[in-house]
Amino acid sequence: MRFLTAGESHGKQLTTIIEGIPANMPLLKENIDESLLRRQKGYGRGRRMQIEKDLVDITSGIRHGYTLGSPISLVIHNDDYKRWTDIMGEKPLSDNAKIRRVVTRPRPGHADLNGGLKYGHRDMRNVLERSSARETTARVAAGAVAKTLLKHLGIEVIGYVKEIGGIQAKDISLTMKERQERSEASQVRTLDPDVDQDMMKAIDKAKEEGDSLGGVTEVFVKGVPAGLGSYVHYDRKLDSRIAASVVSINAFKGVEFGLGFEAARNPGSQVHDEISWTKENGYYRETNRLGGFEGGMTTGMPIIVKGVMKPIPTLYKPLKSVDIETKEPFHASVERSDACAVPAAAVVMEHVVAIEIAKAIIEQFHSDSFPVLKENIKRYREEVRCF
Ligand SMILES: Cc1cc2nc3c(=O)[nH]c(=O)nc-3n(C[C@H](O)[C@H](O)[C@H](O)COP(=O)(O)O)c2cc1C
Repeated sequence: MRFLTAGESHGKQLTTIIEGIPANMPLLKENIDESLLRRQKGYGRGRRMQIEKDLVDITSGIRHGYTLGSPISLVIHNDDYKRWTDIMGEKPLSDNAKIRRVVTRPRPGHADLNGGLKYGHRDMRNVLERSSARETTARVAAGAVAKTLLKHLGIEVIGYVKEIGGIQAKDISLTMKERQERSEASQVRTLDPDVDQDMMKAIDKAKEEGDSLGGVTEVFVKGVPAGLGSYVHYDRKLDSRIAASVVSINAFKGVEFGLGFEAARNPGSQVHDEISWTKENGYYRETNRLGGFEGGMTTGMPIIVKGVMKPIPTLYKPLKSVDIETKEPFHASVERSDACAVPAAAVVMEHVVAIEIAKAIIEQFHSDSFPVLKENIKRYREEVRCF
C-alpha cells in the first residue's frame, strides 16, 4: 500500500491517491468525513478552520460501499479558494497584473527560507502554500481508509493529547472505548478532565501574548497481533517506520515508544516486560513498558507511541528575521494562524500511525481480496496463540 498527497493550502483542493487497498473491503464516505471533522476541532485553532468544512469527495476506487482494488482517489475542496483565485490560479498573469500577497519575509521556524533557497522561489508563497499543515487533511483522509481496514480486522487506533505548554495529563488506565469517549468530549482532546481548564487558560494566555504553544500527543493501538514488522532489515522495522511517519507530521520533532527516554534512566529490570502464557490468550506481558515493540516487531501488547510537537512558528508576537529582497531586518508579524494545534495534531498522528500499521498488515498478510486477507490474519492469530 502506498499513497501520495497533492494540493496547496489556498489552492482548489487537496487530493490523495491510495494504491494497494485490497478489493471488497467495506468503505463509506462517512468513515472518512468523521476523521476529517475530528481534525478540524480543538481549542486554540485559528479562523481558517471556521472557513473550511472538510468533507471528502470520493472520485475513484469505491463502488456501492466496497473497494474495487483499484486506486482510491479522495478530494477535499478548499472553500477559501474562491477568495484566492487571482493569487493561486494556474493561468499566467496578464502583462500588467501584479502578483498580490507576495511573501519576501521568511518566518523563523517555518519552511519559508530554506524552501525558497532550495527551489529558487523569491516569492515564498510558493513554499508556504505546500509546506502548510493543510496538507495533513489529505493524510488524514488516507489514514481514515487505513483505520477502516484495521477496524475490520479488530484493530483500533486512537490519538489524544498528553501535554500542552508544559501542563501534563495524568497517566490513566482506560479501555479503548473510554479513551475514545473522553478525548472526544474534551476541547483539548485529553483523557484527564482535571487538566483541560488549565490547558485552555495556557492557550488563551499564549494567544493574548501573541505567542504559541506545543505539546505531546499519544497514540494507542489495540488488537495488533504479535510479530508484525520485522527484525531482518532496518527499513522493515515497524517501530522505525512509525517513528519516521510521526516526525514527518508538520512541527513534530520527536517520538517515544512506551517509557521512551525514561528507558535510559532505569535499569533493565525496570524496563523490559516479562513474558507469560495462557492457553486462552497465548503469550502476553504483565507490563507494557516498551510500548508494544521488541526487535522492530509488535509484541501483541497495545502500541503506545508519543509525538512531540513544537510551538507553531507563525507568531503575532514578532520574531526577528530578514527580508530577502531588501536584506533589511524586520520583525515578522502575521494575519492568521493557530495559537495551538496540538489537539488537531493528535488526530493527524492517529491517522499516520494507522497508515503504517495498515501498510505492514497488507505486506505481511497480502491478498488482493480483503476477505482472503482477513482469513490470513485470523489464521495467523490462531497460530501464534498456540505456538
Ligand atoms: C495540525 C497542524 C496545524 C498547524 N497549524 C499551523 C499554523 O496555523 N501556523 C503555522 O505557522 N504553523 C502551523 N503548523 C506547523 C507548521 O506547518 C510547521 O511548523 C512547518 O510546516 C515547518 O515544519 P517543521 O516545524 O516540521 O520544521 C501546524 C501543524 C499541524 C500539525
